[in-house]
Amino acid sequence: MILVKTESEIDRMREPCAIVRDTLVFVGSKVRPGITTGELDALADEYIRSCGAIPSCKGYCGYPAAICASVNEEIVHGIPGGRVLREGDIVSIDLCAYKNGFHGDGARTFAVGSVDAEKQKLIRVTEECFWQGIENLRAGTPLYDIGAAVQKHAEENGFSVVREFVGHGIGHEMHEDPSVPNFGKRGTGVRLKEGTVLCVEPMIVAGSRALRVLDDGWTAVTLDKKPAAHYENTVVIRRDGVEILTL
Ligand code: MF3
Ligand code: CO
Repeated sequence: MILVKTESEIDRMREPCAIVRDTLVFVGSKVRPGITTGELDALADEYIRSCGAIPSCKGYCGYPAAICASVNEEIVHGIPGGRVLREGDIVSIDLCAYKNGFHGDGARTFAVGSVDAEKQKLIRVTEECFWQGIENLRAGTPLYDIGAAVQKHAEENGFSVVREFVGHGIGHEMHEDPSVPNFGKRGTGVRLKEGTVLCVEPMIVAGSRALRVLDDGWTAVTLDKKPAAHYENTVVIRRDGVEILTL
């Protein structure tokens, strides 16, 4: 069931979402060759708690960290640890914060030093896919218009869209209805109502979309080892457009 939020509930979501935004900016400023993903996780965990929020990825379905840090061919849900970031890597940071009884959720992909042209394009196109996905989004838009726009932009640029992981509604729970795929057919799906809060999160790969999950039970990687990128914001459906809470 898709829960529509009241204006006062949306107001209570502003703070956790702003904390997600600020934490992503802070963690992004720390990305450089030589830092480990575990160090980025510790910085994010401390930052989120210093804002009076809870890093709600930690403990979610047994997930062990405050952030997901997915490097290069890792698509999503990379577990932070001793991996040292190297010049030329890209790292996707995905995190949630819980405050006022609500979750916020967002992700960005950062370049570590200078990266090759394909990775630069992948980061840019993945962010553009988000903007394409929300471009015509407003009350009454059919749900799969989002995915259709994301998929079109990714594929026009020679990239592929992951099918196994999707965006989602968000609120009191991190994952609420509806699922928000990054693919689909325009004009289909439920018509979204004003006050619906969604996480729109393109996960785009440079090569084939075939993937597997590592033995850690979390880290999704491309089978062809080509790089992946992720960009996510929490957005509110409004009468005439969307309001982005994590920017
Ligand atoms: N923030 C992620 C999302 O977009 C959730 C990661 S799963 C977790 O849905 F277990 F790490 F929390
Ligand atoms: Co999400």
